[in-house]
Amino acid sequence: MIRGLAHAKVNLFLRVGSLRADGFHPVHSLFQSVSWSDRLELSFAAEDEISGWHGGEVPDAEGNLAWRAVVAMRTAVGSERLLRLRLDKQIPVAAGLGGGSADAAAALHLACQLLGGTAELVAEIAPELGSDVPFCVTGGTALVGGRGETVHPIETLTGFVMALVVPPVELATPRVFAEWDRLGEPSGPAVAAEALPPSLRPHGPLINDLYPAAAALAPELDEWRSHLADAWGRPVMLSGSGPALVALFVDADEAEGALAVVRPGARASHVAAPVAKGWGPSRDA
Ligand code: C5P
Repeated sequence: MIRGLAHAKVNLFLRVGSLRADGFHPVHSLFQSVSWSDRLELSFAAEDEISGWHGGEVPDAEGNLAWRAVVAMRTAVGSERLLRLRLDKQIPVAAGLGGGSADAAAALHLACQLLGGTAELVAEIAPELGSDVPFCVTGGTALVGGRGETVHPIETLTGFVMALVVPPVELATPRVFAEWDRLGEPSGPAVAAEALPPSLRPHGPLINDLYPAAAALAPELDEWRSHLADAWGRPVMLSGSGPALVALFVDADEAEGALAVVRPGARASHVAAPVAKGWGPSRDA
């Protein structure tokens, strides 16, 4: 039996190019793994099974990306062992935080260890599972290109902590990209480099091109963004295809204080620090 943590990601900027013939958009994005995590446990079993941490159902077990990762690794190594995957979901789904991709990446690593796979197999399978999975198998801080498969790790960002708020709406990534096409490929709002912590300034201005599309599909997103920007007196940015909103603070105390003044009704909120990996070992039950 083997356990692991899967870390959410935040896109600190996300620039998008025109739709390609293969149905994906080229992106240029600064990805950061953060301390908001799901837990996974993989063990040999009498029959194949995926379940929640306390024996509960995992929604969408059939198409569950983490389970597909496990099966892909098992096939790749030629194993016929039956397996049980337990998943403790803490990262909100359909939020722009990459929870499903992080789970898939962590599941790939766990299956690799349990079944005797190789790092090459992990790297080979990752892009087949989803555009954000190649980043998540490495994690930390990276500049990401292509449809997500080109990952250039850079030094982990430091000197700030994030307050994350997920407004009460779910956004499916394909719908947001399609809306971005329909709107005529708009640019997102910019956060000026001078408004950023020193480690982020070279990457500014921070722009998420998907913001106008996400806000068009979920008008409450813009209400939440202005509420948070007013309450916190600082820029509030969208992560990925949303609706997770993020702002930067000096330390965890300041970020906790910021979350305390958020109006009720958010789907979830969390104080999260940058972490240096996309996944890691977990010892607790
Ligand atoms: O790769 P993933 O399965 O996460 O992508 C889901 C959908 O999001 C794609 O089918 C595509 O519609 C859209 N997408 C995109 N460009 C990307 C990543 C995702 O258009 N770079």
